Amino acid sequence: LGNGLARTPPMGWNDWNAYGCNVSEQLVKQTALAMHNNGMQAAGYQYVNIDDCWMSSARDAGGNLVADPAKFPDGIAAVAGYVHSLGLKFGIYEDAGTATCAGYPGSYGHEQQDANLFASWGVDYLKEDWCNIPFGSFPGQSHQQVAKTLYSRTRDALAATGRPIVFSMCNGWDASVQPWTWAGPVANLWRTTTDIQPNFSSMLSNFHVNRGLAPYAGPGAWNDPDMLEIGNGMSATEDQAEFSLWAEMAAPLIEGGNLVNASSSTLSILTNRAVIAVDQDPLGRQGTQVSASGGHDVLAKPLSNGDVSVVLFNETGSAATISTTAGAVGKSGASSYTLTNLWTGSVSTTTGTITASVPAHGAVMFRVAGGSTTTNPTGAVHANGASKC
Ligand code: GLA
Repeated sequence: LGNGLARTPPMGWNDWNAYGCNVSEQLVKQTALAMHNNGMQAAGYQYVNIDDCWMSSARDAGGNLVADPAKFPDGIAAVAGYVHSLGLKFGIYEDAGTATCAGYPGSYGHEQQDANLFASWGVDYLKEDWCNIPFGSFPGQSHQQVAKTLYSRTRDALAATGRPIVFSMCNGWDASVQPWTWAGPVANLWRTTTDIQPNFSSMLSNFHVNRGLAPYAGPGAWNDPDMLEIGNGMSATEDQAEFSLWAEMAAPLIEGGNLVNASSSTLSILTNRAVIAVDQDPLGRQGTQVSASGGHDVLAKPLSNGDVSVVLFNETGSAATISTTAGAVGKSGASSYTLTNLWTGSVSTTTGTITASVPAHGAVMFRVAGGSTTTNPTGAVHANGASKC
């Protein structure tokens, strides 16, 4: 979306994966303070986002949404103000239908009123979900057509507030909506998958869906394979693989874990600046699959300085050597290339072979420098979000 926002994939936190409906003012403030102090804010995490279940069950007499007074005794504006006082930004959740997925009042028919309220509270990011849509009011229209209509309404309502608000659509879990095919001019990011769960097979299946959608991503317009599950139950090897894959796919890095009690291992994954730099690279290209054979995947992502980021990912349950070449990832014209391993920091040179022993369910990530980047890696299209929006 050409609103000038999210020119690189948004980074932040959302409560849903770790807390579900147990969101509260205290949780949001504690988490924002943790991010401020634990290195995440300094590493680039910006948005502190609340998900479903923040509301009371009914609008007030004026038709305005009301925060649940037990969960948010000081109200949303005060929480947003606290988050802002730390130098962070604040995000909220709503739904395009008559009720949210958890049954709280939806924005349908109140799009401008809700956008105005959010802007008055200091909201910087809106995630809008896709439950309880009144399809009966759109006779003969497909889910995709209805989604275009309703999300365009919210886009326009947000723009009319005059406040910069990142717009995140959460409708890609409805397989017939296929937001990536039309959402470039409507939203800054859009979910491409069903809800992620904190296990390897769920993470893997979201990766499988999202990896083929690279042509649709670009600055201001990102495929969203759902929030991160770092520290929520996968092994450290699997967490590191998720973070590598999400960065390689230029995915939003919205962590969904408990940051107040995050382990040092979780924080060291989340704050790996070399991996974050790949995700946040200003060229804004989503990495593409170079090869996939027997659960051994190679992905390549061209970067703005001419380097290429390469992920060697082992989907299988046994350690394996995974190899590719400089030529296959789009590098040529040099007698040797420099490989920086983005997880260990070790630097090596190669005349062309890029290879590593990769643990079961693990990923090795290299930044490849040298020569020129002449080849467009397999499947990549020079998508440019700006031209689409
Ligand atoms: C849907 C979304 C989730 C979360 C819940 C909240 O399932 O996909 O990310 O927002 O709704 O109810």
